[in-house]
Order: sequence, then structure tokens, then C-alpha cells
Amino acid sequence: MTITHRPVLLEQVVAALVAPSFKARRATQSMPAPGTVDGVFVDATFGRGGHSRALLSYLSPHARLFVLDKDPAAIQVAQQLQQDDPRVVAIHCGFEHLYDSLDAHGVEAIDGMMMDLGVSSPQLDEAERGFSFTRNGPLDMRMNNSTGQTAAQWLAQASINDMKEVIHHYGEERHAFQIAKAIATRRQSSPLQTTHDLAQLVSSIVPTRPQAHHPATRTFQAIRIYINRELEALQAALPLALQLLRPGGRLAVISFHSLEDRIVKRFIATGARPEAAYAHLPLTEEQLPRPWLNSLGRVLPAQEEIAANPRARSAVLRVAERTSRPLTEGWRNEWQEVAAYYEHAGQPYARRRGR
Ligand SMILES: C[S@@+](CC[C@H](N)C(=O)[O-])C[C@H]1O[C@@H](n2cnc3c(N)ncnc32)[C@H](O)[C@@H]1O
Repeated sequence: MTITHRPVLLEQVVAALVAPSFKARRATQSMPAPGTVDGVFVDATFGRGGHSRALLSYLSPHARLFVLDKDPAAIQVAQQLQQDDPRVVAIHCGFEHLYDSLDAHGVEAIDGMMMDLGVSSPQLDEAERGFSFTRNGPLDMRMNNSTGQTAAQWLAQASINDMKEVIHHYGEERHAFQIAKAIATRRQSSPLQTTHDLAQLVSSIVPTRPQAHHPATRTFQAIRIYINRELEALQAALPLALQLLRPGGRLAVISFHSLEDRIVKRFIATGARPEAAYAHLPLTEEQLPRPWLNSLGRVLPAQEEIAANPRARSAVLRVAERTSRPLTEGWRNEWQEVAAYYEHAGQPYARRRGR
């Protein structure tokens, strides 16, 4: 059986990259003719290539699409696509290495990049990948299952405090401490080896409520995020995209939980409203920093999409466009200063200068 992945917010992501004037709030975008868009594009999370294929239908024969994924199974599919379509280049790497991996292909600037974060349906649905609490398999959870520590290996030796922190922080799980303690007790007699071992243990601690998610949902999410260093990779990749995007180039990111979305939201706020960080200084309009990015808004899936594809339920697409402000020497320091402001401001778009 071939397990496929149903892409989320498909038309909206493609429009975000190629529509001449994209605005999230517009219900329909005016699209270019198929096969006419030139430039260099990146799909940083290829998966099974749903978004890539839709984008390719708009790209001209001269355009190029670099597709990345850290999952060897996803890259196998991407390599097949590369054989069938000379515009495609498949790269097996994490998007946190985006800059160096494109540099190795002689690419210094791009016209658009999309990221569709999290796990793909094949990863969830193939029991042996160990991501799913409903399908019994080895407790693995690595997106790149050719290297690194599995979830079982980590749970076999992590301290109670480390497990509690991960489950609490990345899973927003109220019972994190009890779960961590139960894992430590259980592994003294027999280590957790399968997804069902972990799911059953968590279910014995977290109360099941009718209509609610499976009690192990948050714990599985947390361990997966930790094992794959998902938030660190996202934090690292976004500034690399900024460095690569040409003026007018667009970034479109779909996230699936609040921790990811917060990172994307703050990144765009930092790029789009740097002046807010200096509102307390007596500076004239001309002395205030100009934006590196323009925010083009946020798109949520329609009810029909959620009904047809429950994975879309928690999806949020954010889109930003690179301005013409160059990245001069010292831009990183200034960026960090503004980012620190937004880290504390909390609600980036709610704040207005002088209020
Ligand atoms: C939601 S799926 C993408 C689905 C894809 N848009 C499609 O239409 O088929 C997310 C993919 O991102 C990959 N991924 C997650 N973190 C990554 C990272 N740091 N670098 C590269 N790929 C990553 C996963 O392996 C997975 O294949």
C-alpha cells in the first residue's frame, strides 16, 4: 500500500509564492498563467511533494526548485521527481542547513521558499517510524531515521527532570512530572520499546475525557519535537531564508502548533516592524530602522478543508515578503535587539509605536 500525504492549504501556499500581489485577506488571488513563473524556489519540507508539484505547474521551464527533506523516504520520492523533471534538485538535509546546501549548488539568492512543518502522513501512518500511538511500532520518532538517537534510547536514560521539562514545555502537558516519574519507574524493570508501551503508560496517568484527543497525544508531540530538535531547526532556518530571499521574494510557512507559530510570528514581526523596538528613543522617522520584511498576513484553512482533511485543523499559514533593505554588516546585532524586544512584547501586531 502506498501511503500518500494530502497537502494542507495547497492553493494558498502556491499563491503566496507566485501571485503577483498576494494578500492573505483576499479570498481569491489573481494567479499567473501556468508555466510562466521564472526564478529559484525552495520547498524546505518536501514530504511527498504535494506542494512542490502544485508550484511546479506555475514555474517556467527555466525556473528551478530545490527540495529539501531530512527523511530518507521523502528524499527517495524527491529524487524520482528530479529524474522526471529537470527543474527539480533534491537535497537530503535539514532545513537548518539551507544556506550551505544551496551554496553547494551555486545558489546565492532565491525568489520564494515554503515550509510545511511537522510530520507527514506517511511518517505517522507507517508503524515502524514510531510516531503514532495508534499503530504499534518501535519507539523511534526520528525524521532522519539514518542517524541520531531514537525516542526509546532517550527515554531509557534521560533524567526525570529532563523528561518532565520536554513533556511540559513541548507538549504543554499538565501531567508531565507524573509521566516522567512513571517512565523512570517502568524502565527499571523493562524499558519502553514500542509506541504502545509508551501510549499505555501515559494513558494510565492522563485522564481520558470524552471527545478529547488521545491522552498520549501531547506526550508524543513533545518527544517528537525534542528528538528532532524541531524548534531549534526552525529558529535557525528562518534567518537563513531572510539572507537568501531577493527583494520581492516570499516566505510561506505552515505551522501546526502554537510553539512553531509563535516562532514564525515573532520572526515576521521582527523583520516587518523593527521600529517598534526603538519607540522609547527620541528618534526621527528617518532615523528609525526600515523593515527587512513586509508581512502579507495569515491564512487559516476553510471549514470545508478541515472537514475533508482533519490534519488541516490546526494549520496556520504566515506569509512575508522581503523588502529592498540590504543586509549590511551588523544587521544580525540589530536583528537580535529587535527580536529580544518582541520576545518580551508578546503580542507583536497588537503594539503600535507611541502607545
Ligand atoms: C508536513 S510534511 C510536508 C508535506 C509536503 N508539503 C507535501 O505536500 O507532501 C513535513 C516534512 O518536513 C520534513 N521535515 C521536518 N523537519 C525538517 C527539517 N528540519 N529539515 C528538513 N525537513 C524536515 C519531514 O520529514 C516531513 O517530510
